Amino acid sequence: MKTSFPVLHPAEAAALFQHSQTVAFSGFTPAGTAKVVPTAIAERAREIHAKGQPFGIGVVTGASTGKSLDGALAAADAVLFRTPFQSDPILRQGINEGRIRFFDMHLSMLPQAVRYGFLGPVDWAVIEACDVTDAGEITLTSAVGAAPTFCAKADKIIIELNRFHPEGLRGFHDLYEPRNPPHREPLMLRHPGDRIGAPVIRVDPKKIVGIVETNAADDIGAFAPIGETTARIGRHVAEFLAGELRRGLIPSEFLPIQSGVGDTANAVLKCMGEHPGIPAFDMYTEVIQDAVLDLLKLGKVRFASTCSLTISNPGLRDIYGNLEFFRPRLLLRPQEITNSPEVIRRLGIIAINTAIEIDITGNVNSTHVLGRNMMNGIGGSGDFARNAFLSIFTCPSTAKGGKISTLVPMVSHLDSSEHSVQIVITEQGVADLRGKCPADRANLIIEHCAHPEYRQILRDYVALAGHTHSPQTLKAAFGLHLAFAEQGDMRLVDWAKFK
Ligand code: COA
Repeated sequence: MKTSFPVLHPAEAAALFQHSQTVAFSGFTPAGTAKVVPTAIAERAREIHAKGQPFGIGVVTGASTGKSLDGALAAADAVLFRTPFQSDPILRQGINEGRIRFFDMHLSMLPQAVRYGFLGPVDWAVIEACDVTDAGEITLTSAVGAAPTFCAKADKIIIELNRFHPEGLRGFHDLYEPRNPPHREPLMLRHPGDRIGAPVIRVDPKKIVGIVETNAADDIGAFAPIGETTARIGRHVAEFLAGELRRGLIPSEFLPIQSGVGDTANAVLKCMGEHPGIPAFDMYTEVIQDAVLDLLKLGKVRFASTCSLTISNPGLRDIYGNLEFFRPRLLLRPQEITNSPEVIRRLGIIAINTAIEIDITGNVNSTHVLGRNMMNGIGGSGDFARNAFLSIFTCPSTAKGGKISTLVPMVSHLDSSEHSVQIVITEQGVADLRGKCPADRANLIIEHCAHPEYRQILRDYVALAGHTHSPQTLKAAFGLHLAFAEQGDMRLVDWAKFK
């Protein structure tokens, strides 16, 4: 739609940002992420640095972003602070070298933390839109993230009007912002398809400083072909859920699924879609990947509520070419709603997330490699795992060609505690931890999930711990991690050293 807002060149927009300001960008994963303005800010940072002056901004987003935001700004050394999640290799390096301050947080909590003022003032919101009107109505694109809150809270707004996304997306979003306590109302969602909000963000048009026009696809790569390990994990998950249904532990109409992001999640959903023992189901999740698109077309997924369409370029073109097919089947919500503990508990979500490592009593580390280096962040995994009807964590049983066991005596960092982890699944098998004491959990995880090369090593650890409620011994709890750090292979652990 034609508007009277000034149209800015990206460099003109970038010139408006000052050193140390906090900028909130739209998007959730590379989907819906502002693209040209952050790249132009990175360029400006380089020019200012070349003059020997400091320039950096605090970057707040819905979740991870793409190369044109986190990648560009981190490469230009222009990120002072970052929250709540990231997955860019250059940014990750800056975080792990201690140059960039990163605050990892549950994604459901980011919008309220911004609204409560816990993260300080928000100077700017940069929002990707497929449409904006003079009245201040903004139609978002392939993600919602925390954009409604950013628009409400920011002093000034720049719109990236991205023509790649059709104006016909209006109606795919259901935007609702809860009021702050003590005035917050219940979220009246009884089904993944229920609507409680508006199709557009409404802002005071005086806050919109200008529009930057662009035509750029989301920066989402194609998925790796499904490997044997991932396929086995997917088959175990599908078989386990079909078994739960047969036993009457999942109701016959099935329950909505949340699934994490990445190749494993994509493979799990594909296997669920192919399993004859799993009926058509709904998704209530934060990210939809390509596998869900196929399942929607096959009718195996009836309805999908999500925060973002993290879908490869051909997949997104497929949706945009068939908007009327997808309109009654797809809904995009803010992360505060997709990841709401209240809604997740009420709907009875089956949560399927991926771990970096899991310990023998069921504690999960989703974020830190060897307890020190940040991978991506907790994302939505904690929101869903803690409140799910059934909380499943998956991972391959080993990493780095077998030199690392992902099943360890004690996690080197804790994200989801044993109280939020019910089922552990690797390519080796399934450990059902429900109602089990720590010693029984250890036995199940070792015998069903650990790689055969590590089973005796882990049994020996449990023996070292002796008879106790939780089979742990502080002296040796990180023995496998130390063996990897010192000798490059966890299999070289020598428990005798810890006796
Ligand atoms: N110790 C050291 N490194 C490990 C490891 C371990 N225990 N487990 C995995 N790794 C390494 C892998 O070798 C790989 O390294 P590489 O990139 O150098 O090859 C890397 O970590 C990623 O492992 P991979 O098996 O490819 O994981 P993934 O892509 O399935 O992602 C998580 C796994 C845990 C990093 C990812 O799911 C995540 O960030 N989760 C937290 C957020 C979340 O759950 N969001 C979901 C809600 S939607």
